[in-house]
Amino acid sequence: MNKNTKIYIAGHRGMVGSAVWRALTAAGYTNLIGKSSKELDLRNQQAVNAFFETEKPEAVIDAAARVGGILANNDFPYQFLMENLQIQNNLIDAAHKNEVNKFIFLGSSCIYPKLAPQPLKEEYLLTDSLEPTNQWYAIAKIAGVKACEAIRRQFGKDYVSLMPTNLYGPFDNFDLKTSHVLPAMIRKFHEAKQKGNEPVELWGSGTPMREFLHVDDLAQAILFAIENVLPEHLYNVGTGVDLTIKALAEQIQETVGHKGEIVWDSTKPDGTPRKLMNVDKMKEAGWEASTQLELGIKTTYEWFVDNIAEYKQVKL
Ligand SMILES: NC(=O)c1ccc[n+]([C@@H]2O[C@H](COP(=O)([O-])OP(=O)(O)OC[C@H]3O[C@@H](n4cnc5c(N)ncnc54)[C@H](OP(=O)(O)O)[C@@H]3O)[C@@H](O)[C@H]2O)c1
Repeated sequence: MNKNTKIYIAGHRGMVGSAVWRALTAAGYTNLIGKSSKELDLRNQQAVNAFFETEKPEAVIDAAARVGGILANNDFPYQFLMENLQIQNNLIDAAHKNEVNKFIFLGSSCIYPKLAPQPLKEEYLLTDSLEPTNQWYAIAKIAGVKACEAIRRQFGKDYVSLMPTNLYGPFDNFDLKTSHVLPAMIRKFHEAKQKGNEPVELWGSGTPMREFLHVDDLAQAILFAIENVLPEHLYNVGTGVDLTIKALAEQIQETVGHKGEIVWDSTKPDGTPRKLMNVDKMKEAGWEASTQLELGIKTTYEWFVDNIAEYKQVKL
């Protein structure tokens, strides 16, 4: 892979895709290509094939997907299943047919079985039932992992799947109706501080344990996978360290400078008690995360404050 290699980043305007674009640019890659969903709808097989035939990318990073939380999965199961299958199938097949030898697919920690042992190892995939709320998304993602594994096995191409844990960072979704826990807390504490440090109500007991990875660390893992040939088809990407939701809330409260009370609404569900990745395989391959959570939260909060006006106009 040289710095002039033509690399297509699908979904380059999203949280992950934009972080990958920044990381590759910073590493000196000069021949990156990206298209918005308006310019190229990845659900359209003909359009995707035509794009690959014209552009002939040499490597592909698939950061395009229909993503969302429990509510969105519950309301749009068909779209979560079908659109993700369409997007990834079109990309993987067009890449394969156009002799792309390097393809990076993104799975997710949430596609492991609901009751898999912790920390999650790659080998636990498909060993038990899925979490019913996001099974639509998970089935599609598992099909993507398997498609890359099959191409790798049958044709010897370097198609690899990375499984990120919960991500956070710039360009995250801060819409309280659809956001994940960390950006939702940032917004809640910020707005409560602005209203004279009024109490912040959070869901559950605060006891579940979760792991968080800065999106720039994921982008570094993707860069590592671009620059090296990983010997296997599937790698967890996380920090390997978790903390309680209560400890996370206190860390964010301190960073934001909110001086009010935190009220835990224990009538609301906690979700699974623990979700942590085993990241030994990626470490053995030569990569590990480097952003400390405290610093990651601080820079994400700064990004949120700097962009909140624009964000409110665009997304709310
Ligand atoms: N966020 C997390 O915590 C997390 C955790 C684990 C794994 N992941 C994985 O990381 C990947 C990226 O997630 P993200 O958080 O960056 O999502 P995101 O911010 O919502 O970005 C998704 C991107 O996909 C593109 N896209 C969606 N539908 C498309 C279509 N029909 N045609 C063309 N492009 C389409 C969007 O393009 P436009 O902006 O142009 O519309 C957008 O740039 C996904 O595969 C996700 O499963 C994310």
